[in-house]
Parts: sequence; C-alpha cells; structure tokens
Amino acid sequence: MALFSSSTQTIPASAEIPQHIAVIMDGNGRWARKRFLPRVAGHKRGVETVRDLVKECTKLNVKFLTLFAFSSENWRRPDDEVSFLMALFMDALKREVTKLHENNIRLILIGDRSRFNADLVAQIEASEKLTANNTGLTLTIAANYGGRWDILQATNRMIAANPGKKEPFTEDDLTPYLSMYYAAEPDLFIRTGGEKRVSNFLLWQLAYTEFYFTDTLWPDFNAKAFQTAIASYQQRERRFGRTSEQLSNR
Ligand code: IPE
Ligand code: IPE
Ligand code: MG
Repeated sequence: MALFSSSTQTIPASAEIPQHIAVIMDGNGRWARKRFLPRVAGHKRGVETVRDLVKECTKLNVKFLTLFAFSSENWRRPDDEVSFLMALFMDALKREVTKLHENNIRLILIGDRSRFNADLVAQIEASEKLTANNTGLTLTIAANYGGRWDILQATNRMIAANPGKKEPFTEDDLTPYLSMYYAAEPDLFIRTGGEKRVSNFLLWQLAYTEFYFTDTLWPDFNAKAFQTAIASYQQRERRFGRTSEQLSNR
C-alpha cells in the first residue's frame, strides 16, 4: 500500500478502501416532515441507517467509522427534541452494545460528557469498557462534540502537562490530546442531507480529508449510497500539496 505523510499522519492512497470515514448524519428531520411525521420519527429511523452502515464497514474492512450524532450546538433545539435524542442514544447503546461486542467492534464516544445525565455516562463507560479490546472496526460516536471544543480541551491539557515549557509547541505535541488520538485522520468525510458545511465537526482532523456531499437524507442513505460515496473517493487523487507528476513518478 502506498503511503503518504500529511501534516501529522500517514494516510493511504485513495484507490484503497478508506481506512477512516467520518460522517455527518443529517436530514432526519426533513425525512420525517416529508412523510408528515414528527421530526423525531426521522431520528428513530436514522438509527437503522447506522446499523446498516456499521455492517457495511465491517464487510469492507474499514478500520474507523466516526459518526456525528449530536453537536455542541444541538442543545439549541427544542427541549423535547433534545430529550428524545438523549433517550434514543441511551436506548440504542443498551440495545446494540452486545451485538457490537460479538462483532469485535470497539465503541468509543468523543465529546463533552459533562452535560449528560449520570445514567447515560455510566452506560457509555460500560459500553466502552466492554468493547475496549476488540480489534475489528472502531466505531466512534461524536456526542456533544464540537471541533473547537476539541482543539481547546487538547490545548489546555497539553499546557497543563508541560508546565514551564519555553519552546513553542508543535502539531505532534498537540495530537495525543485530541479526542481522536487513537485514529489516523479521516480519509473520507460524508455529509448527507444536502448542506455543504462542516458544522463544527472534526476541524483539526479534516485538514486533508476528501469531502463528499449528497442530497440523500440520512434515513435513506443505504449500503448502495455508501458504496457510491466510496467509489467517488477512489477516483480522487490525494496530493497532500505535491503535484500530480510527482505522484505518478513515485
Ligand atoms: C441530523 O438530522 C440529526 C441530528 C442533528 C441530531 P437533523 O435533525 O438535523 O435533520 P434536518 O437537518 O432537520 O432534516
Ligand atoms: C450537524 O447537523 C450535527 C449532527 C448531524 C449531529 P445539524 O443539522 O445540527 O447542522 P446545522 O446546524 O444545520 O449546520
Ligand atoms: Mg440538520
């Protein structure tokens, strides 16, 4: 496998299956509204898409799947929608964790847990602990996550760990403190639901990621749509600042 060095990590050439796919799962509300259903019906249906995609990633031997489930800005939604999302998250964790474990999947949650209730935090910790030694797909759920929060918490912890350091910090000094220290940067970013923005997702880590936007709403994003996204990625030429000629001479 041909390897390139990005600013901080080693990343595979794009002809391969992407090792790390990061997804903004958007469009649940609109999916429901189109059917004259309450928005939350779309969230419920969206969990099924997650299940299908996890299966697909295992099949394709994707190493890391990172899903944006709830942003630090999503607290601004109506209280009943926020409560529903928290309950759905709890319920999905409880119901799915055994199956994840049986399939050798490691589950990790990134984001600020301080606003979650104690039961949810306990369920998250138990799920992470149960699956910690699994060696198949790593499924990361970003919940109460914000890219700016991540960079700031990493910076603060890095400074606290190096009191009195005089020399400037480097990128390599910071990366161990970022939430996704355990994974290579995403190769492919997918956003469903038609919006073309990053919405404060993995800001640091997306520096050299290939972007794929689709109008398909998250509950409709099936295995075939996922394969189309991967096929689009495989047509890209990742140059990491080099010229096309340099790449063909390697
Ligand atoms: C994404 O779907 C799920 C969350 C943000 C939790 P939305 O709820 O944002 O759906 P739309 O964008 O309103 O259709
Ligand atoms: C982004 O979706 C967050 C998640 C999918 C969890 P939003 O629907 O909240 O994004 P904006 O606010 O429209 O950018
Ligand atoms: Mg949305």
